[in-house]
Amino acid sequence: MIRTRVLLVDRDEPEPGPIAEAAAVLRRGGLVAFATETVYGLGAVATDADAVRGIFEAKGRPSTNPLIVHAADVDHARTFAARWDDRTDLLARRFWPGPLTLVVPRAAAIPDVVAAGGPTVGLRVPGPTVARRLIEGVGLPLAAPSANRSNHVSPTRAEHVLADLDGRVHLILDSGPATVGLESTVLDLTADPPRVLRPGPISPGVLANVLGMGVDHGPVAADSGHLASPGLLAVHYAPRTRAVRIPSPAHLADFDRPARFGLMAFEPIPDALRLKPVAASIEPDPAVAARDFYRALRDLDSRGLDLIIAVEPPEGPEWDALRDRLRRATTPHA
Ligand code: TXA
Ligand code: MG
Repeated sequence: MIRTRVLLVDRDEPEPGPIAEAAAVLRRGGLVAFATETVYGLGAVATDADAVRGIFEAKGRPSTNPLIVHAADVDHARTFAARWDDRTDLLARRFWPGPLTLVVPRAAAIPDVVAAGGPTVGLRVPGPTVARRLIEGVGLPLAAPSANRSNHVSPTRAEHVLADLDGRVHLILDSGPATVGLESTVLDLTADPPRVLRPGPISPGVLANVLGMGVDHGPVAADSGHLASPGLLAVHYAPRTRAVRIPSPAHLADFDRPARFGLMAFEPIPDALRLKPVAASIEPDPAVAARDFYRALRDLDSRGLDLIIAVEPPEGPEWDALRDRLRRATTPHA
């Protein structure tokens, strides 16, 4: 059993002390959780296969699910790609640092275990200064999945990491809540046209605009020959409490509700429904809803409820990433 330490550090002007300590832990092959703009990541040196195996063990993650490699800047990232074409360069320079992961052919420096044995690697440069200083401090890229136990709710705060991984991670760098709150958009640039494997903060429309070409998105047909993102298995990110989703507030009317239920919605709920949830999270602004989604889900999950009822967000691309995560965390109400 590892004794997990937590160090406070400033997100924008990180103090050299905690960065140096965390870098030393990583260089010795240890695990350090750190904040990105999306969620907290569970980091290990990406070029150290043994250290990366420690990530899979700590999370209880299947070895078939590849990890994202985090680099300090565009020039650093491109050294881990076996091919760096114009599309990749355009997107990297436009969106990095930022919540976009680019799947490209993998360079030999990235071990098999990171890529789950595949020919590609997902690369990204994280937004917060603290994350980039950490990578610079180590001098090596960091493989980092979300810092939750596999299939549990992603962490947007240090306390979420501690709740899931206490005794399994050497150090947590606590730089406060993640500002975006949903995982990066994953774009496969080895497909032609490029394909969004996981919807996220940067929408397919925005990517298509910058590229000046269409971008595939939506479910990958099982027989298409495309390798879907393994993280896109239908149920993922799930709370422990039974959680169902309904398409709109109107469906609450004749819903057989247990005494102790929690409610999550993204538009006001009509008073006439006379709902009496034990706890509710209702946030109509898409950016705020995204930022607070995993925290709200963890909060509802901690209350010993019989049921969580989630009302799906309204139509519109600004809700797509949240809708995707909500669907993975819930089952449809029959
Ligand atoms: O925002 C994020 O992306 C966060 C922060 C920490 O960077 N990371 C994250 O990692 O969400 P993880 O492991 O929880 O999700 C990564 C997703 C998974 O669905 C994985 O299957 C997919 O990206 N992925 C990673 N490498 C890939 C590759 N080479 N090809 C296809 N999918 C890949
Ligand atoms: Mg994850």
